[in-house]
Amino acid sequence: MAIEFTRNKQVVRDLQCEQIGRHLTARLGRLRYFGLCSPGMGDVLDWRAMFDEFHVAERGIDGVEWLDQHELLLTASLNGISEKVVLLRGDIDEIVLAGRDPFGTTVRYPFDVISLDYSGGLFYRDNSGGIPRLKAIEHVITEQAHFDRSWLLFISVCLDAPHDGEVKRTLENIKTELGRFGISTEALMRALLHHEREEVRYKVYVPYFVSQIATRSRVRCETAKTIIYRGNNDVPMMSFQFHLQPDNRTFAPRFPQERLVQVINAPFREIRRGKTQDVTLGLPKLRARTTAKGSRAARPPKAKHRPK
Ligand SMILES: C[S@@+](CC[C@H](N)C(=O)[O-])C[C@H]1O[C@@H](n2cnc3c(N)ncnc32)[C@H](O)[C@@H]1O
Repeated sequence: MAIEFTRNKQVVRDLQCEQIGRHLTARLGRLRYFGLCSPGMGDVLDWRAMFDEFHVAERGIDGVEWLDQHELLLTASLNGISEKVVLLRGDIDEIVLAGRDPFGTTVRYPFDVISLDYSGGLFYRDNSGGIPRLKAIEHVITEQAHFDRSWLLFISVCLDAPHDGEVKRTLENIKTELGRFGISTEALMRALLHHEREEVRYKVYVPYFVSQIATRSRVRCETAKTIIYRGNNDVPMMSFQFHLQPDNRTFAPRFPQERLVQVINAPFREIRRGKTQDVTLGLPKLRARTTAKGSRAARPPKAKHRPK
């Protein structure tokens, strides 16, 4: 399984690399990375020619944190990129929220790519009942919005932990919201709430969360197809890719330009044995049933034959 995971993970990195090449062309060679690269630095080494700086966080293993941190610096040195690497020691969510690591190394925005390649789930709670990982994601989006540049956010998670209602309640909010636009979500919501695979719920929740936060900061969010694959011990893994662009044409935040229906209807990109294919996992598509001006229902039917 570990070999399978390694192969799939390489495909994820290649897909992320495609996004970097597509969206950040003008700055290639001078990009700034912030994220979780692991002591092996798989993504950093693959992408090193495109980047000028790598700000990497590593918490290591409790009690022997220094081991992984040291190994990471050794990998950087053996590959001749030490000058490009800034190591932040500790938990990335805590570092993001504090703006610095416990040793005083600061998080210096803006970055071109932020890769939150978590080894765990998204929804663990702190002592005050907050969800630090979501707060950290919110924080980086808000901080990045102070700069007039587009950037990529990669979020990878494994689905090994429960989410105690946060996702379900959000799906219910989405149902109400789409209902206001005359979009019937009955069949989809039934399928989402009862589906045996957690991935289907995350596929709606995570892009919704990111695009809502982005909109609040006047940032336009474009979501690539959600990637699903299996990790070690067959744990389901997901990887999300977002292209975020400032949108300062009006002071009032605009409605999310990318329609939620579009994100919901997009297939998953599944990776198996190192190959990708599009899959729906049996989810029904959402269809607008409105007669709103300009919608398909309001337009006259197309003529079957061109008049002579
Ligand atoms: C999944 S690996 C990163 C893989 C890398 N992005 C790649 O493509 O090869 C995650 C790494 O970040 C570390 N890590 C995971 N969660 C973390 C957190 N919340 N804070 C700091 N380090 C973390 C892990 O110890 C591990 O080394």
